[in-house]
Amino acid sequence: MPEPQDVLGPLSESALFLTLTIEDGGENAVHELLPDLAGMIRSVAFPLPNEALTCVVGIGSAAWDRLFTGPRPARLHPFREIGGDRHRAPATPGDLFLHIRAKRFYPCFELARRVVGGLGGAVSVVDEVVGFRYFDRRDLLGFVDGTENPTGAAAAAAVLVGDDPPFDGGSYLIAQKYLHDLAKWHAMPVEARDDAVGRRMLDDVELADGVKPADSHVALTTIEEGDGTERKILRDNMPFGSIARGEYGTFFAGYAADPGVTEQMLTRMFTGASAGHPDRILEVSTAVTGGLFFVPPADFLDDPPALPAGSGVTAVGR
Ligand code: HEM
Repeated sequence: MPEPQDVLGPLSESALFLTLTIEDGGENAVHELLPDLAGMIRSVAFPLPNEALTCVVGIGSAAWDRLFTGPRPARLHPFREIGGDRHRAPATPGDLFLHIRAKRFYPCFELARRVVGGLGGAVSVVDEVVGFRYFDRRDLLGFVDGTENPTGAAAAAAVLVGDDPPFDGGSYLIAQKYLHDLAKWHAMPVEARDDAVGRRMLDDVELADGVKPADSHVALTTIEEGDGTERKILRDNMPFGSIARGEYGTFFAGYAADPGVTEQMLTRMFTGASAGHPDRILEVSTAVTGGLFFVPPADFLDDPPALPAGSGVTAVGR
């Protein structure tokens, strides 16, 4: 299988999630930068061997057609907005997505500065989220987040495309920013919070079947095939926040070989497994962004297919 980008990278202590849109005429500048990206990552990462700096770049559906001729990844489409009775998962603008991870934040910042600087006026940064690791890998709701992630070969099988040459080794990323109503959450008894997630907050033990509510987060995001096998995704959620703005959130980044798995989880969260019973964590969590991106294998970026005729002819800002 072709070498993937660093999608399987271990959970990091720091992350920067950047969503960019490509300006009209900016396609050429973006296309020219893609083969330089690996070298840009190396030049920040190599002198800082203890930082484990990685960067994954994802490309949105509309941007794909503006950037490349030739075949498209089979399952790439715009993020499908979900509107349940009470909660909504909006689709928001995004042509490129950078998921930058490192031990400390400054290498993430430096790499982003170089990449976005190299693109000049060809792109606009429409969303920037600085993620930090919190206590024992807990989210801002206080729960350990990531426990049931697949590891090793199971993670690779869940995440990497293997049936769509020339895109094998790629992955589909769904990224969403959620804001939490922490005052409402903290006013709930601990047992009600455990029931909402489907695990015990204190020791991270999953609630037993029969006790775990059907509209808990864990029950709704556990997807089983007819034969009982679970369909997994790889999540790298990060807390983020601003004291001044009173903003507390979780940035959801979910990788899958088939985005349909993540979409099925989202549909169950927002509309419920049975009508009228959506995910209880949505009572205190509002999705404010949403995007689907294809993360091509590394060698695709090194030598991308040609720019479509007429795309990016008036390269801006370089
Ligand atoms: C507000 C945003 C979210 C928060 C705070 C959150 C938090 C959590 C927590 C605390 C767990 C239990 C521990 C674990 O296994 O990681 C969990 C599990 C899980 N979450 Fe989320 N999550 C969020 C959004 C999502 C979304 C959008 C999806 C998928 C579309 C998702 C998919 C999953 C899956 C697949 C599991 C593991 C279920 C299992 O196999 O037990 N989560 N999440």
